[in-house]
Amino acid sequence: MSDPDTDATFLLYGAYGYTGRLVAEAAVERGFEPILAGRDPEKVEATASEFGLPHRTFDVREASTFVDDVDAVLNCAGPFEKTADPMVDACIDEGTHYLDITGELSVFERIKRRGDEAEEAGVTLLPGVGFDVVPTDCLAAHLKRRLPEATHLALGLDASGTISKGTLKTVLSGIGDGGAVREDGDLRWVPVGHKTRAIDFGEGLKRAVTIPWGDVSTAHVSTGISNVEVYAAVPPEGRRLLAATKYLGGVLDAAPVQYLLHRLVDRYVEGPDERTREEGYALLWGEARSPGNRLVSRLRTPETYRLTVETSLLCTEKVLSGEAPTGYQTPASAFGPDLILEVPGTERVDLDGDEVVERVGGPEADDEATTRTT
Ligand SMILES: NC(=O)c1ccc[n+]([C@@H]2O[C@H](COP(=O)([O-])OP(=O)(O)OC[C@H]3O[C@@H](n4cnc5c(N)ncnc54)[C@H](OP(=O)(O)O)[C@@H]3O)[C@@H](O)[C@H]2O)c1
Repeated sequence: MSDPDTDATFLLYGAYGYTGRLVAEAAVERGFEPILAGRDPEKVEATASEFGLPHRTFDVREASTFVDDVDAVLNCAGPFEKTADPMVDACIDEGTHYLDITGELSVFERIKRRGDEAEEAGVTLLPGVGFDVVPTDCLAAHLKRRLPEATHLALGLDASGTISKGTLKTVLSGIGDGGAVREDGDLRWVPVGHKTRAIDFGEGLKRAVTIPWGDVSTAHVSTGISNVEVYAAVPPEGRRLLAATKYLGGVLDAAPVQYLLHRLVDRYVEGPDERTREEGYALLWGEARSPGNRLVSRLRTPETYRLTVETSLLCTEKVLSGEAPTGYQTPASAFGPDLILEVPGTERVDLDGDEVVERVGGPEADDEATTRTT
């Protein structure tokens, strides 16, 4: 690989998946030379030769001997339930920084517990450098900065566009686990969609339901706020499906049902096309509350996969150039709440009650969007 500015190297695991390929392509455009890797020799080789990059083929359980000479690993192979633990083991053993694009709550919780070991090894563990959780994590840290005495945090997302095979398989694999919220500092397992609320993401009110998004783990680390809920805008048919999972959880978890669902995904699901990635956008919302106070901030970002490519490379670049503290980190604990504003096409709005008090654009913002008070 090498970071164009530092000579540091990174290995991109899961490089021939839908998201991994997008990351590889964008990395080359930016002058990086990552080593592409994955478990299927033919697919790794084909992708590497397409992009003119070096490659390695290995099973994630044998990662140690393949990551000992690189500075960082960016893991894009999911479900991360299967790939994160062995890759984290290898990275801690070999003194290699670890990043991934997981959104899986249990994976965040497990990697968090490795923080002391990572600290001792001088390694940064930074999961969640994709759409989940960079924008919401930055929003959480920004709200904490606006309201330091906050005791309750609610985050929400409204993402347009379709999803990839890998994302859908990851969602299906975890569907029987139910939902989760953080209460008084502890994780509490609840049914998915156990709460609903109407949220204005910036385009009028939408009905949203609670989901076990990664922020239920990460926002607590980034902000210290003990009560965290995450909501997703879901159309009525989606809410009915979620309600059904309350009763079907055990059935959906059964191996034959999972096999069938994964086969259906392989057969019928494609990731969003280039036009959808270019034209789509995502809306994020966050609310911090303390006794007697309520503040809201919102973000508008590029489409979720485009954002994942941007944020994963941005975070990798920062880790390689030595900007990240060692130990377990969240995107905002490593780089601060304004990290997301470094992504072109991002805009943040602050509200006090219902009134807009500040609007801040990202690097591509026009004059009107840049810092304004209304
Ligand atoms: N944080 C975010 O916002 C965000 C954004 C995009 C994607 N994601 C997550 O990233 C993951 C990949 O998504 P995708 O769209 O790229 O899916 P995809 O196209 O299905 O690709 C998945 C990749 O992971 C590899 N893989 C899966 N299990 C593996 C294992 N046990 N060992 C080694 N490699 C394994 C696959 O290799 P094989 O073909 O050999 O199985 C493939 O290269 C999913 O979990 C998705 O949820 C998160």
